[in-house]
Amino acid sequence: MRTDTGHVFRLEDYRPSDYLIRKTELDFQLDPEKTIVTARLTIERRDGVSLTAPLILDGDELELVSLQINGLPATDYVADPELLTINSLPQQSPFTLEIVTRINPTTNRQLMGLYRSSNIYTTQCEAEGFRRITYFLDRPDVLSVYTVRLEADKQAAPILLSNGNLQEAGELVDGRHYARWYDPHPKPSYLFALVAGDLGSISDQFPTMSGKQVALNIYVEHGNEARATYAMDALKRSMRWDEEVYGREYDLDIFNIVAVSDFNMGAMENKGLNIFNDKYVLADPQTATDTDYAGIEAVIAHEYFHNWAGNRITCRDWFQLCLKEGLTVYRDHEFSSDMRSRAVHRIDEVKVLKAQQFPEDGGPLAHPVRPKEYREINNFYTATVYEKGSELIRMLRTIIGDENFYKGLDLYFIRHDGDAATIEDFIKCFEDVSGQSLTHFALWYDQAGTPLVTVTSDYDAASQSLRLTLEQKTEPTPGQCEKQPMHIPVKFGLIGTDGKDIEISSSEGSGLQGDVLHLREASQSWTFRNITEKPVLSVLRDFSAPVHVAQSLSRDEQLFLARHDSDAFGRWQVIHSLMSNAIIANVEKLRLQQATGFDPVLPELLAELAQDETLDHAFRALCLTLPEEADIARDIGSNIDPDLIRNSREALLSAIATHGAEIFAKTYDGLQDAAPFTPDADSAGKRALKAVLLQYLAVSDNDPQRVYDQFISADNMTDKLAALALLAHRFYEHDFATRALAQFEQDYSAVPLAMDKWFSVQARRPASDALEVVQSLMKHPLFSLDNPNRARSVLGAFAASNPTGFNRQDGQAYTFFTQLILTIDRENPQLASRLLTTLRSWKTLEPVRREHLKSALEVIAQAEKLSPDVRDITERMLA
Ligand code: TRP
Ligand code: ZN
Repeated sequence: MRTDTGHVFRLEDYRPSDYLIRKTELDFQLDPEKTIVTARLTIERRDGVSLTAPLILDGDELELVSLQINGLPATDYVADPELLTINSLPQQSPFTLEIVTRINPTTNRQLMGLYRSSNIYTTQCEAEGFRRITYFLDRPDVLSVYTVRLEADKQAAPILLSNGNLQEAGELVDGRHYARWYDPHPKPSYLFALVAGDLGSISDQFPTMSGKQVALNIYVEHGNEARATYAMDALKRSMRWDEEVYGREYDLDIFNIVAVSDFNMGAMENKGLNIFNDKYVLADPQTATDTDYAGIEAVIAHEYFHNWAGNRITCRDWFQLCLKEGLTVYRDHEFSSDMRSRAVHRIDEVKVLKAQQFPEDGGPLAHPVRPKEYREINNFYTATVYEKGSELIRMLRTIIGDENFYKGLDLYFIRHDGDAATIEDFIKCFEDVSGQSLTHFALWYDQAGTPLVTVTSDYDAASQSLRLTLEQKTEPTPGQCEKQPMHIPVKFGLIGTDGKDIEISSSEGSGLQGDVLHLREASQSWTFRNITEKPVLSVLRDFSAPVHVAQSLSRDEQLFLARHDSDAFGRWQVIHSLMSNAIIANVEKLRLQQATGFDPVLPELLAELAQDETLDHAFRALCLTLPEEADIARDIGSNIDPDLIRNSREALLSAIATHGAEIFAKTYDGLQDAAPFTPDADSAGKRALKAVLLQYLAVSDNDPQRVYDQFISADNMTDKLAALALLAHRFYEHDFATRALAQFEQDYSAVPLAMDKWFSVQARRPASDALEVVQSLMKHPLFSLDNPNRARSVLGAFAASNPTGFNRQDGQAYTFFTQLILTIDRENPQLASRLLTTLRSWKTLEPVRREHLKSALEVIAQAEKLSPDVRDITERMLA
């Protein structure tokens, strides 16, 4: 394993490489333990570079077999596993370098570089995995045209894939065969990929906007072919959408997707050969939930959209990661919104942002969307770079308007095609088309932290005017004490007593544009005239900026908004904060050992919403879902006692369940559907509503019969899993729970993605003995720390989604967890470090738990051998 060198990489230190690699010819003699890689590189010295400048190539755990320059053995070089330094080079440029390395795909358990997953050879090169295959200038601004020849045993690996188009394939002696792939598009090494193995596939065709036929293939393990059809459909819809909305056409004759079961992240956009965690490819009604289907659609789209945002235009350096990721997340969100309900999707986006990115931005791991420094780039594939990065694109669009947004992107795709670009290049395109300076807006890329926007208003009946004041403040984040005011677009509405939006024509105070207030100063006020009655304010409609909002609305105003806001997001938000505030108020009562009590209007409101046929099912489901314990903890902010939060939340759940019992039962019964399963958003919405109602009914029934009935009669995984979770979490002692868990295990023991759910449901059971449950799950014959999905299904679920079980007061779960982090780190540092980040909010815990967690983190910090990944996260968390 590579251990930490402590080196810090800084954006300000960027300089272009002395050498370029114009052409890369790779030959792979594939073998499970001894793969021989021959790299023939055409290297050019950049203009102005000294003839004596050494060529320094990156490596990682490499073994050099031979090295030739212009066909002659090289002599003046130093090769170690991490670096190949060649001191004397031909004066004449370009010259060729032939590097032969030997690698072992089987023992490569980091899942970076060339590795084996279920007897398949596969690669993952982003960000710095290519250097585990051969010595290279492994940086995104070195673009090269690749030819790849693969040779393998034909029986073991009948399928041989790489980037680009297939040029040639044929038989060889000794049962071996070969294929040669050529990718005409210059690309950085992180987009290189190969796959070889015995795989099944499904195929289709896509006629592009200019009439070219593209062959589409999805490769999966034999027997899983039928489960790839939804992914294929999502791929074709993504390709069409990118043509229709962005005018972007696919640029090769073939597009391949491969699903593998051992994968660190969601998927990877390798040029013409996307490689996926099979979780984001495989689905059928029996094994995949609606959430899984939506995830497949989103990730298929995401990786496809990278073909332009990332592949044709890549990043100059890894500090610019959000250039491709923020934009691509934005595009996949827009795609899903067009495919589903836009309002519901927006609420889901914000839920994820608040659950993942806000705690990151408000804790020890906070960093700007474009970081200024890093020690390990793998640790910067974060919610901030991805999700907040996407929010910045969304704000940019709000600020310059739809027309300039599309014009600017067109310009970007044309002007920078084939480039390795920066955020400055990107922003400049929008300044050029709009004639507007975006200097202030661009601060969002460099300043970390979530601004708090405070809203105050004053209505004067005599002058019929409303004065609205917005203030902004951002707390310090690591390395950034002083914060400047940002350009925050705040979408808003004024609602009259009739529940309708009041027309706003003009205001005193600058920066009103349509229904958006452009807040640029620390404090700004606007005065609206001719407002004939005191309106109710709806601010941050559509969640127009990634900020916290502080606003004191009366109870009546909140209820009014919950019923009348024309902005669906605003409605959901106010309902959510009503629930959160009610729970928090009772946390305080519980802390003082007082009895809990709830204002009955909230249960009344929810019962009313449950049966409101004018609202779509998915939206009703979102409104009826209580904030998670973690959401409430975040709203409280400090001195967190997870048990009090759970108890208070349970009390509200039960108050709502009791009040709404009859209505919920009637609505639930009305949703029973005889039609066969379809994964579309409308049907999924019905199932989501059914699930949340079933939860309330389980509480009010205080009996598992109804839940068990759903478990038994379900014809799809969504309904089944919803019931299983309720049985396992609320009726654990009951025979029905035991039977359901056993039945599920028996039915799905051969379906790993379904078994992940079985493990995860149990790891999330809130109980004082959750640690013991987790320990026994880890003894299950199907448990393994080697498969990231499986490890996450138990350990990730436990640490991130079982607040009371994980945060037991004696700290035992912490020491157990951190010991496992050390174990995993020896094999797969990326997985270890990602799991570790689930502890990022540790400082917000109450003192006893906080101290336990701190000690556990210190044990990691003091461990002898740590990967750069885990070292970096641990030290930043403890700083
Ligand atoms: N570029 C990938 C995506 O967002 C992310 C990714 C996949 C990745 N695998 C990785 C990043 C491994 C780092 C390491 O689409
Ligand atoms: Zn991506």
